[in-house]
Amino acid sequence: MRIVFIGPPGAGKGTQCKRLTEYLSIPHLSTGEMLRSTRSDSAIGKLVGSFIECGRLVPDYLVMPILTKRLAEPDCADGCLLDGFPRTVNQARELDAFLLEQGHQLDLVLHLEADSQELVARLLKRAEIENRADDTAETIAARLQVFETETAPVLDYYLGRGIVERIDAVQTPDQVFSAIRRAVDSRRK
Ligand code: AP5
Ligand code: MG
Repeated sequence: MRIVFIGPPGAGKGTQCKRLTEYLSIPHLSTGEMLRSTRSDSAIGKLVGSFIECGRLVPDYLVMPILTKRLAEPDCADGCLLDGFPRTVNQARELDAFLLEQGHQLDLVLHLEADSQELVARLLKRAEIENRADDTAETIAARLQVFETETAPVLDYYLGRGIVERIDAVQTPDQVFSAIRRAVDSRRK
């Protein structure tokens, strides 16, 4: 299966993908992780870091080659989980074109929903434990805004296909995963 996770920062995309990757035995592709692992001492790494640190989207000319190279690897032949991609309607169109060329299509879009108060609380809590450069109050607010303006329209882009499943992400991680598993199992071939 080819599954897209869409949700605002802190909705639990990474947390749930880690579980689903084991359940389905298909790789978990996180563009955020890929971008964060760009070498910070390289010119591209510095450029990427400058976008991430202020909560803006990294431009497509940097994101698309990284993502399509990874998607073309053999372990993605039977499917994958896309975490944090696509994030714009343009990325969604490019993904469709890439998959079509390979004779594939998306099977499911999981829309993880949570209110911004919960999201901010989760990310500020994570900031005390981990060291993500974008988990500051100011950058979290920018990321939430970018989600609303640039990523939420991707849901409308997919809506007519009947592949979007809404998941209430303000539950325990176990409850969220149960809802995801139900959505996945009902569409497994
Ligand atoms: P990315 O890495 O994708 O970050 P994000 O979308 O902002 O979301 P997070 O990773 O913070 O949250 P998540 O939904 O994965 O939640 P998590 O499971 O971690 O992107 C970062 C940046 O990279 C972007 O801002 C952009 O600059 C760039 N970028 C990435 N992709 C791009 C693209 N396609 N195009 C352009 N630029 C791109 O959980 C969060 C916290 O909550 C954790 O501490 C977790 O333990 C906790 N938690 C999870 N679930 C629950 C629960 N059910 N109850 C309570 N706590 C929970
Ligand atoms: Mg994440």
